[in-house]
Amino acid sequence: MSGIEELLTAARAARERAHAPYSGFKVGAAVRAADGSVHVGANVENAAYPEGICAETAAIAAMVMAGHDRIAEILVIAESKTPVTPCGGCRQRIREFAAPDTPVHLASTSGALHSVTLEDLLPLSFGPEFLT
Ligand code: THU
Repeated sequence: MSGIEELLTAARAARERAHAPYSGFKVGAAVRAADGSVHVGANVENAAYPEGICAETAAIAAMVMAGHDRIAEILVIAESKTPVTPCGGCRQRIREFAAPDTPVHLASTSGALHSVTLEDLLPLSFGPEFLT
């Protein structure tokens, strides 16, 4: 299984566990940490709508809880005509742990896949180095 296929399989499985009763839009994400380990998340919505979290946020939290602090690549998947892209907040959350050239794979359950970099999604970004 290729690296992307491994992420795709993991993110698809995570998506099945999404809690999205309000939007009906299930999202899965898989993050590969610098050591090659894979960490997954799905969106978890809440009756108090703003309290829901995105799949990428959940996957990043899982990665951090497993003791890692660098994203080597990340994949996000949803059922959409064109491959789903991370929301603005998640782009910034990815930015915290990734480099400008870190691959972000955008997928749809129908099989479409498009790979971009973090820099493509979040140019001229603010990050931790500004605070040092
Ligand atoms: N969502 C994600 O999980 N990731 C994204 O990048 C886009 C949006 C979720 C949030 C909410 O639960 C649902 O999709 C509809 O916006």
